[in-house]
Amino acid sequence: MKNSYDLVVIGGGPGGYEAAIRGAQLGFSVACIEKRVHKGEPALGGTCLNVGCIPSKALLDSSHRYEATKHELAEHGITTGDVNIDIAKMLERKDAIVKGLTAGVAGLLKGNGVDWLQGWGTLVDGKSAEKQVKFTSLEGEESAITAKYVILAAGSVPIEIPVAKTDGEYIVDSTGALEFAEVPKRLGVIGAGVIGLELGSVWRRLGAEVVVYEAMPEFLAVADKEISKEAAKLLKKQGLDIRVDTKVTNAEVVNGEVVVTTDVKGEVKTETFDKLIVCVGRRAYSEKLLAEGCGIELTERGLVAVDDQCKTNLDGVYAIGDLVRGPMLAHKAMEEGMMAVERIHGEKAQVNYDTIISVIYTHPEIAWVGLTEEAAIAKGHEVKTGTFSLAANGRALAQGEGMGLVKVVADAKTDRLLGMHMVGVGAGDIVHQGMIAMEFVSSIEDLQLMTFAHPTVSEAVHEAALSADGRAIHA
Ligand code: FAD
Ligand code: NAI
Repeated sequence: MKNSYDLVVIGGGPGGYEAAIRGAQLGFSVACIEKRVHKGEPALGGTCLNVGCIPSKALLDSSHRYEATKHELAEHGITTGDVNIDIAKMLERKDAIVKGLTAGVAGLLKGNGVDWLQGWGTLVDGKSAEKQVKFTSLEGEESAITAKYVILAAGSVPIEIPVAKTDGEYIVDSTGALEFAEVPKRLGVIGAGVIGLELGSVWRRLGAEVVVYEAMPEFLAVADKEISKEAAKLLKKQGLDIRVDTKVTNAEVVNGEVVVTTDVKGEVKTETFDKLIVCVGRRAYSEKLLAEGCGIELTERGLVAVDDQCKTNLDGVYAIGDLVRGPMLAHKAMEEGMMAVERIHGEKAQVNYDTIISVIYTHPEIAWVGLTEEAAIAKGHEVKTGTFSLAANGRALAQGEGMGLVKVVADAKTDRLLGMHMVGVGAGDIVHQGMIAMEFVSSIEDLQLMTFAHPTVSEAVHEAALSADGRAIHA
């Protein structure tokens, strides 16, 4: 093992491993320190590949196929025998996908000449020109490393709440909810956020009765109101029992069942579940990352404080991804990783935080980019909007997906596109059109003048833009 590098990246998640690879491509000698052990083996890829984006999408896909095969084929005239699901096999498939991808990342690091140091990294001194990092191997051996530059990419962990302490068996966090050996008959979920909706959907599709408790009075307050209203309607119709304005005051395991006590405006109730998922957000993870006196400033919320280019208060030390301000999303972490390294290399890289896409991978998907109508008004824009329902989109109907809507938000004076929002089939891909349009400073008129292929779901974007000026054809 070398003890001196140009660049040391602490954390091998999507932010860290992409930064390490870009660093090597730019000619730096690079070490990436990652302590994760997943299913008994050291693993790169962070939360996203091991216990986040990828395994959750594998389960969303399996459960969607199961539900669609069971309930949607008959209308096409397709008959099947009994439709069953082997949960152990479904989990095995998920694990194989994760293993393939994390091994792929290890191969990429090796191929680019990045040293993967398996263990913990701690920034000891970030103030000197030669940064001091302590490396503690998985076996507990300590060594000192120096680096010209350090990127902190230690990610995040689930927030725990005292009223519902996880025990890894009955009361679990998102990681536990990816591993249920059988479908819970009754599943409780605390938090109707991204994880609650995605993992709640997985187990509901497989047969669980799912109750989702949300403390806030409004469902999915981060999304555009029209979109969250439509999404709530669709998800409730599928059977997700979403209860807003509901505080869980206690959750405990009694005789192998989870007893949940809630308080709705003073009315106290108890309900029992086989399993309970706690998903009330995540927090930056900086334990063991920063030695006392290393010089790094944190925000009040415990994030590493950075500027728009992810530079910390110390020269030569950057921080990226879930560890810093902004949405906790893998693609945001990746772009920040590349920006940080390119900045170190002297380039003028930037991340456009105004066009970071959010996708909730329910069925149908919920996705958006840019400003919601409410946020645009709050920012002082005179706003015009256009919406188009997928119930009038030929392709969506042909696919049995005629539900949901597309919405565009624009500045009424300049016609500039400010946001695109969708709940509907393929929303996660379709809103990329909004991102590209916004990056090119498109107007609503630009979207109106383009020829969208027929029949595609994307035509709903065209119609939503036309509808912003009262010119939609199929509305
Ligand atoms: P992480 O991926 O958390 O990686 C940080 C790594 O650093 C970890 O592996 C950790 O072990 C390591 N580390 C921490 N401290 C040290 C240390 N001191 N020394 C050495 N190593 C250390 N985002 C999306 O964009 N799309 C999705 O579909 C999506 N789905 C998700 C589903 C779930 C269930 C969850 C939980 C998250 C999901 N996310 C999704 C969020 C996404 O996983 C994170 O935003 C992303 O992983 C952040 O990347 P990161 O590199 O900042 O941190
Ligand atoms: P979240 O922030 O999306 O949602 C948490 C929800 O829990 C909020 O609606 C909040 O109001 C509610 N809540 C908070 N405390 C509560 C309490 N005591 N009782 C009841 N409700 C409470 O967080 P979540 O779902 O845990 O996900 C964490 C992060 O992981 C997300 O913010 C997202 O950045 C990332 N993620 C992204 C995915 C994607 O991009 N598709 C998928 C899954 C996670």
